Amino acid sequence: MAERFCADNISFTQSGRVLIDNVSLTLSPGEMVALIGPNGAGKSTLLRLLTGYLTPTGGECVLANKPLKEWSPETLSRYRAVMRQHAQLGFDWPVEAVIGMGRAPWSQRPEPSIVAEVMRLTGCSPLAGRHYNALSGGEQQRVQLARALAQLWHRGAPRGWLFLDEPTSALDLYHQQHLLRLLASLTREGHLHVCVVLHDLNLAALWADRILLLHQGRMVSQGTPERVLQTDALTRWYGAQVHVGRHPSHAVPQVFLSP
Ligand SMILES: Nc1ncnc2c1ncn2[C@@H]1O[C@H](COP(=O)(O)OP(=O)(O)O)[C@@H](O)[C@H]1O
Ligand SMILES: [Mg+2]
Repeated sequence: MAERFCADNISFTQSGRVLIDNVSLTLSPGEMVALIGPNGAGKSTLLRLLTGYLTPTGGECVLANKPLKEWSPETLSRYRAVMRQHAQLGFDWPVEAVIGMGRAPWSQRPEPSIVAEVMRLTGCSPLAGRHYNALSGGEQQRVQLARALAQLWHRGAPRGWLFLDEPTSALDLYHQQHLLRLLASLTREGHLHVCVVLHDLNLAALWADRILLLHQGRMVSQGTPERVLQTDALTRWYGAQVHVGRHPSHAVPQVFLSP
């Protein structure tokens, strides 16, 4: 599905509060886009609008030239997957079964080879046989990523649109790097298109092709990491004292907090 994903002037009002205010964006195939912004900026709400879990009160989202609301849930679930911020399960299933749930749009029985392959890619193989509710928060995040990739697996690779809400929040350094390297490499292969909410601006600087900065429901800045991550802008939008410098060995900005 090598077509664009667009949000055209979308707004979302709830209980009289404007949570998303006239946001327009375009996500292109083969691109990894990071969505950043302070707590409460509306990142999770925007992700829910982009993925069809919420309907905009103004404007619309369009996937492959067709408004999102005209896609049937069954077809849509083959082209876009979502990894949510907090994924609790009400039942205690083995890891393989949780990942296999991702295959529901394609088959009644999860194909063991696909489950094994996404477990290998996401570093979940050592979790085989464990029960989901007994895993640490970071281990559960890895399983949720595997489930989302399983959902998009088609013709030997994950294909389509993947939306993730703070997928690294519980991961250690090794697994942060592993997840972002994996997403970047799958994106570069051209079949997967990624939009990821990231809290860690330095991860966004290292891996995102483009960054969107949200503040109080509005898109206040977007562009390359170089363009969006600037000292004055981050001080203004986050209200924190920061200094933006350079990565010592890569040509990307890195953000430092002042003590
Ligand atoms: N169901 C809701 N009803 C009313 N306000 C909500 C609801 N969900 C979120 N909000 C508010 O919307 C704003 C944006 O929330 P959210 O999208 O979760 O922000 P972020 O993910 O950027 O931290 C916050 O002020 C939050 O309190
Ligand atoms: Mg959020």
